[in-house]
Amino acid sequence: MTTIETVLHETRVFPPPEEFTKQANISGMQAYQALCAEAEKDYLKFWANRATEQILWHKPFTQILDDQTPPFYRWFGDGELNVSYNCLDRHLATQADKVAIIFEADDGTVIRSTYRDLHQNVCRFANALKSLKIKKGDRIIIYLPMGIEAVVAMQACARIGAIHSVVFGGFSSKSLHERIVDAGAVAVITADEQIRGGKYHSLKETVDEALHTEDTASVKCVVVYQRTGTAVPFDTSRDVWWHEIIEAASTDCEPEWVNAEHPLFTLYTSGSTGKPKGVQHSSAGYLLGTKLSMEWIFDYKPDDIFWCTADVGWITGHSYVCYGPLAMGATQVIFEGIPTYPHAGRFWEIIQKHRVTTFYTAPTAIRSLIKLGSDLPTQYDLSSLRLLGSVGEPINPEAWIWFYQKVGQARCPVVDTWWQTETGCHMIAPVPGAIALKPGSCTFPLPGIFAAIVDEAGHDVEKGKGGFLVIKKPFPSQIRTLWGDPERFKKTYFPEDIGHGLYYLAGDSAYRDMDDYFWIMGRIDDVLNVSGHRLGTMEIESALVAHPLVAEAAVVGKPHEVKGEAVIAFVVLKGRYPQAGETADIVHTLREWVAKEIGPIAKPEEIRFGENLPKTRSGKIMRRLLRALAKGEEITQDTSTLENPAILEQLKKPAQSF
Ligand code: WTA
Repeated sequence: MTTIETVLHETRVFPPPEEFTKQANISGMQAYQALCAEAEKDYLKFWANRATEQILWHKPFTQILDDQTPPFYRWFGDGELNVSYNCLDRHLATQADKVAIIFEADDGTVIRSTYRDLHQNVCRFANALKSLKIKKGDRIIIYLPMGIEAVVAMQACARIGAIHSVVFGGFSSKSLHERIVDAGAVAVITADEQIRGGKYHSLKETVDEALHTEDTASVKCVVVYQRTGTAVPFDTSRDVWWHEIIEAASTDCEPEWVNAEHPLFTLYTSGSTGKPKGVQHSSAGYLLGTKLSMEWIFDYKPDDIFWCTADVGWITGHSYVCYGPLAMGATQVIFEGIPTYPHAGRFWEIIQKHRVTTFYTAPTAIRSLIKLGSDLPTQYDLSSLRLLGSVGEPINPEAWIWFYQKVGQARCPVVDTWWQTETGCHMIAPVPGAIALKPGSCTFPLPGIFAAIVDEAGHDVEKGKGGFLVIKKPFPSQIRTLWGDPERFKKTYFPEDIGHGLYYLAGDSAYRDMDDYFWIMGRIDDVLNVSGHRLGTMEIESALVAHPLVAEAAVVGKPHEVKGEAVIAFVVLKGRYPQAGETADIVHTLREWVAKEIGPIAKPEEIRFGENLPKTRSGKIMRRLLRALAKGEEITQDTSTLENPAILEQLKKPAQSF
């Protein structure tokens, strides 16, 4: 890649409304610039001050940053704290009766949990975990539906220093198994079933399937929360009921004071190989990042009703459901269901019903909501809203404008937040009381974040030119390592050739416009972003090739109106090319197979068959060519090296698409 061509030309600008700026936590450009200047002037002092202001330390730190062995940085390395204490206990003296969570179930039932309730439930569950001999440093897999219990389980792990690893409820038993084995988990916390859109899906059965082989012997127990009460298989030598183990448990639980660098959690995410990466986060640095971004980007105020629609199975649900809002002492909505059930106005109804002030969702949701009823939001009272947010993928300017006008009624700033599982919290996002917005741009880095765009030698590229997005200085909330694979961590994120191993390489391409605004262009690795979820093409390819019918497979992304990107698979069957009458069956079989191997989110949108895949002389699959074929573009590349150019004709058409 010499230069990445920039594609967007958006000229509309939306300055912050005066009223908003007046009340904002960072009020006006000068205030934002003053914070940036403070970080420029004395980077370490800047972060030390923030860490002292924001975190309740059990033992204050004296060291700020240990950068002796990059990229294995340690922040606040001799300090001690407990994250759950910082999210719950700290609010008991001042606002124990404030509602922490408004839970809206799939069927519309609402349960409110105050800070006092939540604290008690977390303490009880933490004691119950201890009674199961779970201790500091143990890895616990959480495979739960969206709900108060998911937050309780995560916070209880944090309270006793156990390292949670949440697996999204939509992942298959195979994906779950892989994560259990990689983490060496001692326990799995799950539910009988989950309910979404009126449908019941078993979780416990999936866990049983994931645990049936000997390589999961590390798992000593499975805690089962009764969500629906349906009968599930129960192995009394291993399984325990959530409601039974908390019965005798005390509501007092002294937090385990841990070192600032103690791993709070790992979260698996897709990368360029077939094996998901266990992104490991710290306790103090991560907490600091989530808290500061609540204050700066979400402009958090004590009477806000905050709603982040992300599932706790993703990083967004970690940072802006489980940790950030609770650390701030916020009231937040947690929703179990889906935006379209029982009707297409469910999101707007929830905002109206609970008087939501801050609404944070993904572009894919926004685009599907536009399709469901572009004018639907106007039928609801959305006057409580004061701020909107977007995350997960680039938001196209038209979706941005719709969100701004129809949902925010041209009153609420839209914060387009760029960040990743690995960064823990927002990195580039508009401080809403200061920065004029441009639809489709995530605008400027947060104070203290030194983001830049560089070429393959690590040199800054000029404005308007695309390049690699990097962060030049370490920051507290960043990934500490990949669980069990420090070498891969180093190679993936701190490559020697770009910035001498000192720059954090995000894996995205981006450019800055003439006003220095950042525009994210997409991934530079083999990672797709489907409905805001990261999927590795290699993972899907490995899954396809594992099917007895398949000889070879290549997976690429294709732009999709709602999902952002769609999965397109090119498949060579073993020994034959499918007959016209059998393709539909094979396509169906392979899609279901991928759903079973990885999860329904990874199902290819299209499968195309060929007798061969186009390869270079050295045998590398010509992915660029496949991407062009997927998009239906004319082939302009040199195809003279192809063994059999006729296969291009075969690969041009989908066998069947969905
Ligand atoms: C993409 C989600 C453009 C990006 C928090 C990144 C975005 C990947 C944005 C991380 C945004 C996230 N604009 N692209 N505002 N936010 N991305 O780890 O490609 O699930 O690298 O974290 O999503 O996805 P992840």
